[in-house]
Amino acid sequence: MKTETAYQRCVNPVCDASYSIGEVLTSCRKCGWLLDVAYDWDRLAVPARLKQFEKKWATRRDPLHFSGVWRFKELLNFAPDEMVHTIGEGQTLLRTEPEVARYTGLKSIHLQYEGLNPSGSFKDNGMTAGFTHAHMVGARKVACASTGNTSSSLAAYASASAAGSGGQRLEAVVFVGSGRIAMGKLSQGLDYGARTIQILGCFDDAMRRVQEVCQSQGLYLLNSVNPFRLEGQKAIMYRILEGLNWEVPDWIVVPGGNLGNSSAFGKAFGELQALGLIKRLPRLAVINAAGANTLYRLFNEEQIRWHAGQYDRAKVDSFYARMDAERREAHTLASAIEINRPVNLSKCLRALELLNGLVAQADDQEILDAKAVVGRGGIGCEPASAASVAGAKKLVASGAIGRGERVVCVITGHQLKASNTTVDYHSCQGAELAKRFAGYCISSNQFANRPIQVPNELPAILKALE
Ligand code: F0G
Repeated sequence: MKTETAYQRCVNPVCDASYSIGEVLTSCRKCGWLLDVAYDWDRLAVPARLKQFEKKWATRRDPLHFSGVWRFKELLNFAPDEMVHTIGEGQTLLRTEPEVARYTGLKSIHLQYEGLNPSGSFKDNGMTAGFTHAHMVGARKVACASTGNTSSSLAAYASASAAGSGGQRLEAVVFVGSGRIAMGKLSQGLDYGARTIQILGCFDDAMRRVQEVCQSQGLYLLNSVNPFRLEGQKAIMYRILEGLNWEVPDWIVVPGGNLGNSSAFGKAFGELQALGLIKRLPRLAVINAAGANTLYRLFNEEQIRWHAGQYDRAKVDSFYARMDAERREAHTLASAIEINRPVNLSKCLRALELLNGLVAQADDQEILDAKAVVGRGGIGCEPASAASVAGAKKLVASGAIGRGERVVCVITGHQLKASNTTVDYHSCQGAELAKRFAGYCISSNQFANRPIQVPNELPAILKALE
């Protein structure tokens, strides 16, 4: 019956409803579960070997081949080329970092630095795909709720004119929680011209509201419940494989917030395996901030597992009901992942099952210390990103990850996103440190690189250089 080579499919195996690629949906109309973008692979041309993608680099004057997402287009082939909205995303690096390896207890470690994206975070991988679909369906206004990076990315893509838009800018509306967003991120959205709605509430409140508004006002929603966003985020995994000369690592370690990334990574590897492009799968470790640890608790304490789609939804609902009754609210310095109810929980559970995954948590002290160590390596990241390194360190210490295993930590966002936190970590001491980070579990800054204040006199300056 299907004439389209790409379509949308409900992730609930019992339902399995499918929808046209031209529909704008963020959940299944029949059962309410999330949707995947699915492909009729037999009717699509996919390179026989991953290495063949390298050829595209020779023709990188073509924006589609320059993009670190669209040069893998055969693996997310839902749009005609002329609809693709790219701003040059995905020129990112896979780096080994000896100091970070020592810190985590690993013999070596790879960091996939997504902070190099145009808006400074991994979100651009998904946003290019989301905007491409928005153009395909003729959207004029786009919106999201955000802890700051999705909104920065959306605002950047909306202000850049694109092929499918006929040169017209899309109108951007972003919903953010009041006082919960890092300044660097807020400044991006404002600068790129997005209408910025600061809700007196948390991210989860903003998420609920934007969904209501999109539904009633016909805005195109670009949060990660949009299945096209996650198609773009698969490309992070393709670039990691490329960086490893197409060898599969033992572990992918990623911070978990709304769980879009982990979901996309699972889908990417599942498809590569089904297409015969990889022979084995990596394992997945999702790291929550201890102050925003819904997935950690559901997975490790409530033992929630995907179970081929039959996961215990009643148990999840009662977990959330308890969370509300206890007025337990996410609270972490890693504001990007300060989320109570991750919208992609079901897809993440599916990824954890496929990739024999596990979930760990890191507290704010561990996150800020790891962040400082990553920074010393010259990469620099925002707090949420360092959760991956802090988590890897704990998993090596517990023996879950072997010292000699090949580990890739995804560094999701740029250091300049949250520079206040960085400066405070490095410059505050004693009572001042405690005061600055009151309410968070920060008692030390062992990796601080303190600025040295000196009078404007040469002898004093020379003394400081001793
Ligand atoms: N790291 C950073 C820097 C992020 O901004 C986010 C999510 C995550 C990790 C978590 O990724 O949601 O795929 O599990 N930021 C969203 C936002 C929520 O609105 O910018 P996830």
